[in-house]
Amino acid sequence: MLVLGIETSCDECSAAVVENAEIIRSNVILTQLVHEKYGGVIPELSSREHIKTITAVVEEALQKANCTFDDIDIIAATHGPGLVGPLLVGLTFAKGLSFALRKPFVPVNHMEGHICANYLAHPHLPKKHLALIVSGGHTMLVDVRGVADYGLIAQTRDDAAGEAFDKISKLMGLGYPGGAVIDRLAKNGNPEFAHFPRAVRGEDDSFSFSGLKTSVALYLEKQSHEFIAQHQADIAASFQEAVVDALVDKTVSAVKKLGVQHVGLTGGVAANSRLRTRLTDALKPYNAKLYYPPLSLCTDNAAMIAAAGYYRFETFGPGELVANAIPSLSLFD
Ligand code: KG4
Ligand code: ZN
Repeated sequence: MLVLGIETSCDECSAAVVENAEIIRSNVILTQLVHEKYGGVIPELSSREHIKTITAVVEEALQKANCTFDDIDIIAATHGPGLVGPLLVGLTFAKGLSFALRKPFVPVNHMEGHICANYLAHPHLPKKHLALIVSGGHTMLVDVRGVADYGLIAQTRDDAAGEAFDKISKLMGLGYPGGAVIDRLAKNGNPEFAHFPRAVRGEDDSFSFSGLKTSVALYLEKQSHEFIAQHQADIAASFQEAVVDALVDKTVSAVKKLGVQHVGLTGGVAANSRLRTRLTDALKPYNAKLYYPPLSLCTDNAAMIAAAGYYRFETFGPGELVANAIPSLSLFD
């Protein structure tokens, strides 16, 4: 079964053709550069960019997959969570295609897409596992019990982990988005150079990163420009270590509590090299294995939406064309 996936929940305009949630025939990802100078995504600019690029992105996905609309069996698109304007562009495009081509339409939850990115990368990852979803908009530990069957273990009560990376990068004058830059810089830094707070540890059902952000901001305010420039890598490494500690700590707590042996790390922050290494090591004593997708499937992409669409269609059949964009769509309804 060939699935055309469409993702426009934030600043990536993406379309993909995926066969049976297994073979990625194409995965075209166009990252909007228009936001860079503002240090964050401007929703209205994002909607307008998506309108300009969606047709070409979908056409390129079909071309790269060596197929036409006739070969597509179902059309899946993100309908939330995300920014309402950008979501509406991809969703409306997909619904229009579905109506015109008389092909089934499947609305997909973006977070379910992130979980499915790991199934694409690791076909043997059991459908029952613990998922740590860390992105620019979300930080969530999820008890994955099967297709569309999820239990919330913990989520952030304020900033998302990726948002913290982006804010600190901005404060340090390193640009937007900041995760990859901080990751790279931190490789040459000392994670114990400065101590920043680790909030809500253990079994508590929440993460929190806004206090950490304030603490780094106050620290930076007190230092001279020369000191910050000289110790950029050390400060980046110390901040990153605080985020990684919080994520590792709660994931290990959940592994102990649930007795799971498979952990899927996913979302943009899953690209973080320190998080991957620390989590892999921390899970070893519990005989638990860490799975994460390649970089191209960590950040927002339509292949993961196509995969999620496939599983939804197999389990529940087609969705309704009345499906609307839902900015705060939950994974747990
Ligand atoms: O999943 P994603 O593409 O978009 C959302 O759904 O939010 O995640 C983007 C986030 C950004 O905050 C970015 O800074 C972060 O992922 N990110 C990273 C790394 N690469 C991307 N954070 C830490 N380390 C990285 N290597
Ligand atoms: Zn995402």
